[in-house]
Amino acid sequence: MRLAGKVAIVTGGAQGIGRGIVLCMAKEGADIAIADLKLEGARKVAAEVAALGRKAVAVKTDVTRQTEFEILYETVRNDLGQIDILVNNAGAACPPGNPFTRNVEEDWDRVWAVNVKSIFFACKAVAPYFIERKYGKIVNIASIAGTMNSPNMPPYSVSKMGVVTFTKIVAKEMAQHNVNVNAICPGILWTQFWQETAERLIKAGGIFADMTPRQVFENRVNVIIPMKREQTPEDIGNAAVFLASDEARNITGQALHVDGGVVM
Ligand SMILES: NC(=O)c1ccc[n+]([C@@H]2O[C@H](COP(=O)([O-])OP(=O)(O)OC[C@H]3O[C@@H](n4cnc5c(N)ncnc54)[C@H](O)[C@@H]3O)[C@@H](O)[C@H]2O)c1
Repeated sequence: MRLAGKVAIVTGGAQGIGRGIVLCMAKEGADIAIADLKLEGARKVAAEVAALGRKAVAVKTDVTRQTEFEILYETVRNDLGQIDILVNNAGAACPPGNPFTRNVEEDWDRVWAVNVKSIFFACKAVAPYFIERKYGKIVNIASIAGTMNSPNMPPYSVSKMGVVTFTKIVAKEMAQHNVNVNAICPGILWTQFWQETAERLIKAGGIFADMTPRQVFENRVNVIIPMKREQTPEDIGNAAVFLASDEARNITGQALHVDGGVVM
C-alpha cells in the first residue's frame, strides 16, 4: 500500500486514463476526489473506488475556470480531510489531420485553455496549501505529441510541450518546500480521446479513408511504437502511483515517457 493515508485529486478522472490513475491509486490505499465536467461518469468511478474500500468524492469541475479550483479544494478538504496528491490529467485534442495552415484561432484557444492554463490554475491554487504542509505531489499528464512536434495537430503538440515546461518551472519553485512535480507522457491509448481522433482521421481521408477507427488506431500503434503494443490506463496509473509515492521522493522536474519506446 504505497499511498496509504493519502488523498489524491484526479482531474478528468471520469473515464480513460484518469479513471486508470484513480483505480491504481485507490488500490494503493489512497482516498480519491474525481474532478470532471462529467459528473455522472465521475460518480460511477467514485463507486468503483468505494468498492475497493476507499473513500471517494465526485466533484463537477471545469478545469478551464480558475475559481472552480478553490471550490474543489475546499470540498476535498471538508470531505476527505486533506490533499496530498494532485494529478492534472483532464485534456482535450484538436482536430487531427490539420496542418497549422488550416488551424483557426479557436483551435489554439480551446486546447491551450484545457491543457495548459488549467494546470497553472490548479498549481497556483494548491501551492499555498502544499507550502504550508511542507508536502505535496503533483503529476501532470502531457503526451508524446509534445516531443514529436506533430505537424497534424499543432496546438495539441505545442500545448503538451507547454505542460512539460510548466512542470519543470513549478518543480524548481516548489522543490524547497518538499513538493515533487513531475509529468507523464503517455503514448497511444484506446480511450474515447483516441476513438474520436481516429474518426476525424477517417473523415480527413488519405490512407485512413477505408479503415475502421480501431484499424486506424492499430496502424498508428504499429507505425509509431517500437514495442508494437498500445499503452493502457493502468500503465499510466502505475507510473502515477510511483511518482506520487515516497519511493520517488528524490525525483522532481522529470517527464516520464510511458510509450513503448517512442521517445528515447
Ligand atoms: N489517449 C491517448 O492516446 C493519450 C495519449 C497521450 C496523452 N493523453 C492525455 O491523457 C489525458 C487523458 O486522456 P484520455 O485519453 O483519458 O481522454 P478522454 O477524452 O477519454 O478523457 C478525458 C477526461 O477529461 C475530462 N475533461 C475534458 N475537459 C475538461 C474540463 N474542461 N474540465 C474537467 N474535465 C474535463 C473529460 O470529461 C473526460 O472525462 C489528456 O490530457 C490527454 O491529452 C492521451
